[in-house]
Amino acid sequence: MKTQVAIIGGGPAGLLLSQLLDLSGIDSVVLERRSRDYVLGRIRAGVLEAGSVSILTEAGVGDRIGQEGQPHDGVELSWHDERVRIDLTGLTGRPVTVYGQTEVTRDLYAARDARGGRIIHEAEVLRIEDVESDAPVVVYTKDGREHRLEARFVAGCDGFHGPTRRAIPGRARQEFQREYPFGWLGLLSRTPPVADELIYAAHARGFALCSMRSHEVSRYYVQVPLTEKLDDWPVARFWEELARRIPADVAAKLVTGGEVLEMSIAPLRSFVCEPMRHGALFLAGDAAHIVPPTGAKGLNLAIGDVHYMHRALDRHFNAGSNAGIEGYSDTALSRVWKCERFSWWMTSMLHDFPQLGDFEKRMQKAEFDYLMRSETARKSLAENYVGLPY
Ligand code: FAD
Ligand code: DHB
Repeated sequence: MKTQVAIIGGGPAGLLLSQLLDLSGIDSVVLERRSRDYVLGRIRAGVLEAGSVSILTEAGVGDRIGQEGQPHDGVELSWHDERVRIDLTGLTGRPVTVYGQTEVTRDLYAARDARGGRIIHEAEVLRIEDVESDAPVVVYTKDGREHRLEARFVAGCDGFHGPTRRAIPGRARQEFQREYPFGWLGLLSRTPPVADELIYAAHARGFALCSMRSHEVSRYYVQVPLTEKLDDWPVARFWEELARRIPADVAAKLVTGGEVLEMSIAPLRSFVCEPMRHGALFLAGDAAHIVPPTGAKGLNLAIGDVHYMHRALDRHFNAGSNAGIEGYSDTALSRVWKCERFSWWMTSMLHDFPQLGDFEKRMQKAEFDYLMRSETARKSLAENYVGLPY
């Protein structure tokens, strides 16, 4: 089989890229190792930057976001019972939109189907050959047999554990990493959200987040040590722990007892791979970088990378210029590192780190107090939260 761009991974990054390329008249094939139902069963991010909504709209998948997505003009941070509201729209002129990654993925599948896009499921990529040439080949298995997909370019959109990053030879690749000694235990519940806006809650017992998917479905998280297993967390224990970490007047309004739709634990990590392009191979999204989820940047960064990659490939195929291709890695990494900084900072301020001494704990509290007292500090947070410019 042959195509112009072989896309590895059918998560949000891979699907969005195939859609944008198609709208520019560029042919692609998406190879996804899982089934469509499996991909749609994963519960992940929930907040879209305004810039992400614009890119998705440009890709023709903005309708349902416009109808069902909830614009949020602010978010709250709490420290035990103290609270500070970040007036996102007042401080930056832009809100964020609460709309789940699962729904973004569903909309992208529908758009690809409507245009006859080629997505091959249960196709596991094994390796990429000749990445330094103009004719790379992706080798994958499907139905127990090995297949080859020939392309002009390969887009690695295969998430953190996928194989494409390692197709960049070790001598040309540098990786930067920080692992955190805790994860987020998430619970998706068919209950109304406890508040109209998201609450990022710092507490001596650990971080908690109150989020939502709609007026009927809530998403909550609590920080847990990495040694904890899902079996350690019966639903009643989750609700009790959440209630202890959020402000008492908020906890009094918690609606529990609804159907639990999902529970899972995600480890926290900061990671960047440089460069994000090697020869004919481009990386995008979690294949190239990971942020801890505090700050809601993971999905938004993936969308941003795809925006830059689409622009570069469009200029190559439709205007005969390689300038975008040559600049892709530097352009994407410049934004990635700023989002890494923001996610690391939010994580550092709001979580309980077991190894922290008293001085560092006072620093965390001082950060929070500064946000309470300074509009300049709140504006900086807001600018990053709603999304840095492209
Ligand atoms: P993915 O969504 O990971 O898609 C990669 C795709 O590649 C997958 O479908 C995978 O099956 C496929 N693939 C992998 N290997 C192969 C192969 N060999 N061959 C073919 N296909 C392959 N972000 C937030 O902002 N908030 C959150 O609450 C949040 N929660 C998260 C929870 C978890 C458990 C994880 C893993 C991530 C979470 N994120 C969150 C991050 C956010 O979901 C990601 O940044 C986003 O999914 C990145 O999209 P992507 O398309 O780059 O990667
Ligand atoms: C959600 C996840 C996040 O990481 C975040 O910062 C905000 C919201 C969510 O799943 O709703």
